[in-house]
Formats: sequence, C-alpha cells, structure tokens
Amino acid sequence: MRSLRWGEFGNAAVRQMANVQPGETLLVLADTWTDMDVAEACLVAGLNAGADAQLLVIPRMDPTDTTEFNESITGALVGADVILGVCPTMFMEKDAVRVARENGARVTATDVIGMEDFALEGITGVDYQRMNEIAERIGEIWIKTRHCKVTSPAGTDIEFSLLDRPIDIGNGMVSKPGESNFFPGISVANAPIESTINGTLVVDGNIPPGRLVRSPVTVRIENGVIAEITGGADAAALRSHFERTGDPIATHLCHFTLGLNPRARTSGSIHQDEHVLGAITFGFGEQDPGFGGDVPPCGVHCDLVLTTGTIECDGQILCKDNELNADLGLGGLS
Ligand SMILES: [Fe+2]
Repeated sequence: MRSLRWGEFGNAAVRQMANVQPGETLLVLADTWTDMDVAEACLVAGLNAGADAQLLVIPRMDPTDTTEFNESITGALVGADVILGVCPTMFMEKDAVRVARENGARVTATDVIGMEDFALEGITGVDYQRMNEIAERIGEIWIKTRHCKVTSPAGTDIEFSLLDRPIDIGNGMVSKPGESNFFPGISVANAPIESTINGTLVVDGNIPPGRLVRSPVTVRIENGVIAEITGGADAAALRSHFERTGDPIATHLCHFTLGLNPRARTSGSIHQDEHVLGAITFGFGEQDPGFGGDVPPCGVHCDLVLTTGTIECDGQILCKDNELNADLGLGGLS
C-alpha cells in the first residue's frame, strides 16, 4: 500500500502546496538519495493535474557544497513555471533557482527522508487553514515587539528586538511568481534586529548536519554573532562545523522561527524538528533577503533547534511548554 500512500502525498504536494495549474511546466527535482516512489508520485500527480510535468534526478550534493549547478540542470530549472523539490540537496540557494524565480517560477520543496509520516500527516491530518491563521496572528504580534525574550528549562536565556522586521510564514504553499517555500509547514519566522541579540541558547534539539544532540550545547551570542560554543562532543562538532565553512558570516544569527504543526514530532529530521508546535529555531549564516536583515551574504546556512521554550513578547507570554497562548487569539489548533 506504500505506493497509494505516496500517491496521496503527490496530490497534496502538487495541488495544495505547488498549486499546479493545467498547462504549466512542472519540474519535479529529485536527487540520487530520493525515494523514487516519492518522485514518481509527484510526477504522476503533476500529469494528472494537466501540467506539462517532468522529473529530473541530479547527483545528491552535501549541504555545505556551494558549487553551482551545471548548465544542463540550470536549463531545466530556468525553463520551469513550477519547481517541486523532493530531495536532500539544498537547491534553493543555487543561482539557477534565483534566476528561475526572477523569471517568475515558483518553488516549493521538501525532503521526506526520515519524516515520512509527517510529510503526509503534517498536511492532510491537520487544520492547515487554522494553522496559517495562527501564523499570521503571531506575525502581527512579532512585528510590533520591541523586546522578545526566550527562555527554556534547559537554560536558554536570550533577548532581542523584532520591531518592524518582516514576517515570513513557511506554509509550503506557493501560488505567485517568484515565491519559494518548504513543506509541510507551518512555521513563522523573522530576523531579529542583529545588533540587539544577546544571551545564551542551550540547544537540546537538532544541530548540523541534521541530527539530535546527545547532550545540550550552549551557544553564547553577542550582538547577533556566536561568541562561544561550549558543551561536550556535540559542542566540538558544532565548532568544527562552523570552522569548515571557512566563512565567519556563518556564525551570524539570521532568523528566529517558531514551529506550529501539532503533527510534527522531535525525531532528528531537521525539517520536522523545526515544525514541532512550540519548537524554537535559530538560523545562522545565509539570510533570505525577504527577512530584510543586516547579515552579509554567505553561501552556507544552518539551524539550531530548541525542543521547547517560553517566548515572551513585550511582557506577554506567547508560547510556553509547547502550547500557544489562547488569550492572544492563538487557540484552536490540535
Ligand atoms: Fe534556517
């Protein structure tokens, strides 16, 4: 019955996430690590939606590999109306995708490896519309927040301003030219004002290259930049991760994200871990221009995930113990 299950996934990806219309050119992008049942399900769903659909399988690239795509892959991407990525290769930051988006293509992506249940149930087994409304409401609060404080039982204690920073809702759904997103959502994010970010993160969830820590890692941030990483073997691994990038900008904090999906479980899959209801993620390095932040360009990006925490916005608790504050209009999600 596996193929039937992926058939449902393909339909959700093509219709609900990518909003593919009859006659559009759809490129399903897979790599050599992609389960071909998943890729083929998306191709079939695209054809059934009346799209001019094709499937491209590229060699899998490591997340730290900043090499650009060759001309053959570039041609396929630049020629598409819609790009649906189902691969571990982090293709979204490549020049070819930037050009495709400038030409009007919309792009949405996932990597189901290690989060197979969430890939489907995170879309079809949840009130996606209510989750999106809650994300929008949090965005309305954050854009007015002068003082945001995040604490956690593990020892996180960090503060920053979110005032007037644009909100990015990661719901996976793309319908307008140039849009890009990842699915399943939903997460809400922005870029804290870099110079105001000071404190300590104690990471008890996911660390690069996308696995759970064995023991918490303490990361001290000064004025938006990592000043010190301490802890056991995982801290050493995180320090060498940043050293390997060879770019000091990789240690600049570039986004703050709250997960909202009640079907997500902390599992070691970075995408799923970020989307757990009440999980808090801090991104470092490459900053999407949509965040309107000050982090200089950088070819690499990574995320550190806290499994839980308390978020206080100008003295009001927005989220605590993986529950949203219903008094702020954030109830109704289960
Ligand atoms: Fe990130």
